[in-house]
Amino acid sequence: MNYTKIAGLGYYVPENIVRNEDLVNLMDTSDEWIIERTGIEERRYGSRMKETTTTMAAKASELALERAGVDKKDIDFIIFATLSPDYFFPGCGVLVQRELKMTEYEAPALDIRNQCSGFIYGLSIADQFIKTGQYRNILLIGAEMHSMGLDFTTRGRNVSVIFGDGAGAAVLQRSDEPGILQTCLHSNGTHAEELAFINPGSHSGYHLGVERFGYDDRKYGGTFLTQKMWEDEDYYPNMNGQLVFKTAVTKFPEVINEALNMQGLSASDINMLIPHQANLRISQFVQRQLKLRDDQVWNNIQRFGNTTAASIPIALTEAWEAGKIKEGDLVCLAAFGSGFTWGSALIRW
Ligand code: UT7
Repeated sequence: MNYTKIAGLGYYVPENIVRNEDLVNLMDTSDEWIIERTGIEERRYGSRMKETTTTMAAKASELALERAGVDKKDIDFIIFATLSPDYFFPGCGVLVQRELKMTEYEAPALDIRNQCSGFIYGLSIADQFIKTGQYRNILLIGAEMHSMGLDFTTRGRNVSVIFGDGAGAAVLQRSDEPGILQTCLHSNGTHAEELAFINPGSHSGYHLGVERFGYDDRKYGGTFLTQKMWEDEDYYPNMNGQLVFKTAVTKFPEVINEALNMQGLSASDINMLIPHQANLRISQFVQRQLKLRDDQVWNNIQRFGNTTAASIPIALTEAWEAGKIKEGDLVCLAAFGSGFTWGSALIRW
């Protein structure tokens, strides 16, 4: 039987540290508010001149490949999760292949969305390809350059203070022993627009109405990006924070327990929980629900903010680097976010 193990991990965050006090200069917010509601003290923003989602991903990947001892020519498949790609298309999968100078091997590259749960979705996809025997080594990346697309005025403060830039990568490898024991994935599109980056897009007002997006304004280039969107500065992400929070605290424990039940395990078997770093309060709530000690949960949102698809691989790499994950440990990953999409993974280290 084929199993999937994590053979190497790496992460990269930009040098530029943006503290809460720095944001106070841009919008009506405060260090106290941000820390109390989210736990975030600082985050990183990429260099506008030098960095993109892809360049950060390449740095994380180089480290993961080196630690795995896997040559680039032996990567059979690249999976890239991001909601902040360099281009609308093509996706970052082929861009990172080029950045890593891997084009000559012509391995397939798959781009997935799935926002905060992108890394767990990617892990599950990779696991299926490895289990069936089709691929031996897969490079899985989660990377985000949020800072290029946030509203740094008071209007966007509930979103912009939360997000940070960074990248994490894992080399997944075929093994005779587990490995990934279980992945559980879910989605429910009922509240798709409650945490979304809607414009520009091809919706053309179909779902959301002519009035809001002014899609008849064809003289400005069709319906994709209209003059009205431009004038209203209607091209930023929006979030119904309370709805996301309330749903997340239900779905995190639910999907973790689902994976544990499927494996005949319980929360007391978990050695290390790596929750998607959405909000420290959410992670603490989940920790209490599962009755885990502080040293059994890895949180770094205080230093990096919410890096969406990158948050789990960055946190997992940090925990591993810190020696907090040992051979034989049961590691649990869990995420919830835009879509809504959510998922969990159980890994025997
Ligand atoms: O990874 C993606 C998934 N995302 C999440 O999991 C996020 C989940 N949600 C949250 O983390 C929280 O809902 C937030 C941190 C986003 C917001 O916290 P909240 O306690 O839910 O605040 P709220 O949205 O209910 O807003 C409370 C007040 C409002 O003012 P009024 O109407 O009471 O006067 C907001 O305008 O706080 C205000 N506010 C801010 N004040 C200072 C919102 N953002 C800020 C800010 N600084 N940055």
